[in-house]
Amino acid sequence: MPNIVVVGAQWGDEGKGKVVDHLAEQSRWVVRFQGGNNAGHTLVVNGEKLIVHLVPSGVLHAGCTCVIGNGVVVDPTVLGHELDMLATRGHALEPDRLVLSTEAHLILPWHLALDQAREKSLGDRKIGTTGRGIGPAYEDKVGRRGVRVAELLDPETLRERVEEALAWHGPRLPPDHGLETEQIVAALAPVAARLRPYSRPTVGLLHEAIRRGDNILFEGAQGTFLDVDHGTYPFVTSSSTVAGGAAAGSGVGPGALHKVVGITKAYTTRVGSGPFPTELFDATGERLRAVGQEFGATTGRPRRCGWLDLPMLQHAHRLNGFSAIALTKLDVLSGMERIAVAVSYRGVSDYPTGARALAQVEVEYVELPGWSEDIRECRRFEDLPGACQDYVRFVEDHLGVPAEMLGVGPGREALILR
Ligand code: GDP
Ligand code: IMO
Ligand code: MG
Repeated sequence: MPNIVVVGAQWGDEGKGKVVDHLAEQSRWVVRFQGGNNAGHTLVVNGEKLIVHLVPSGVLHAGCTCVIGNGVVVDPTVLGHELDMLATRGHALEPDRLVLSTEAHLILPWHLALDQAREKSLGDRKIGTTGRGIGPAYEDKVGRRGVRVAELLDPETLRERVEEALAWHGPRLPPDHGLETEQIVAALAPVAARLRPYSRPTVGLLHEAIRRGDNILFEGAQGTFLDVDHGTYPFVTSSSTVAGGAAAGSGVGPGALHKVVGITKAYTTRVGSGPFPTELFDATGERLRAVGQEFGATTGRPRRCGWLDLPMLQHAHRLNGFSAIALTKLDVLSGMERIAVAVSYRGVSDYPTGARALAQVEVEYVELPGWSEDIRECRRFEDLPGACQDYVRFVEDHLGVPAEMLGVGPGREALILR
């Protein structure tokens, strides 16, 4: 089995959790390599819905060890709660099933306060972040003043680092922040105790696994157009969400990434602010939101909805080098008379970088015939209505990438493999 990188091809929430859960069946390891609990990855098994934010989506497979890699930013309190939630739901994870990198950076209370205060001060120019402190935590990491998991486990160092951080951030925190070293350190003590058994260096662990011939699944969070370099800057997240990020965020060389699977919905959604060329503001958009249940898995916010955007996916293919795509939520399109697909941006030869240029493109569409049949029970490509097969082939032909997986419902079993 090759090592596979799974990444979102759009603006997140493409169905990565479901695809990773499927691929994890055959994986010895599943590694998160970037992002934090801004992610919300949904798994639906036997009608039971589970949303994970930090724990990798291999959690339901007993033979699979989950790794939170060095590139992730970890809110230790949230991770503790997530472990409790999983245990309550009958999926308790022992340290042989979950490993937390001691090199991962922490999201601490001031990061949440800074994230929320900044969004507030931006007013209607806000990014629409998840408010989880992601950006400020990555800023501290890059600014070389971050606090890592290793320091959480060492109370004396932790106190020093918290004190330094509060002194540094004080002037930028809201006057009523109420953050105080001793109180933060005291609150972190039980969290540290909880996470200590899971925490260890993960780079060596993964290389030992590779040497043994184990296969590794890399689970991306967010999506290509939320990438801090390649996304719709500044309306992006603060990490490298593209496939290349899997190497840096886990400590394996790019040569160990054998296959890249891009996950895309059969239409497009986005949460938060920023340009969205194919966005629908009419009843069709409402319909996609209602039928697709497009509400954020992390914040519950309604997702903006629109047609599939092929120029965007073509650019995602350049940035990630897809070996295959998974086309999810095809079932949501059932019952639409005609389905539009963006095929080009008028007069634009290269994909526009940055939010401003993308906001100005004029989208050119083709319309494809829809299908009326309910496809949720289809399990083979041949079972799909002709128009649905044609839709899939149209996307494949435009991208030059095979759609190896087709999503026809939220459940684990609602997947067509080709
Ligand atoms: P992720 O962040 O990429 O893991 O995606 P989310 O879990 O945030 O959002 C995807 C949503 O679509 C979840 O509610 C999934 O249960 C659901 N979903 C995934 N694949 C399909 C599919 O093929 N059809 C339908 N109807 N729902 C799906
Ligand atoms: P998954 O992994 C969809 C968006 C936020 C906001 C921008 C920056 O479930 O696909 P941040 O909190 O990261 O600083 O917010 O990125 N965003 C996501 N949108 N899915 C996600 O994760 C997201 N994670 C962040 O809405 O626009
Ligand atoms: Mg999500």
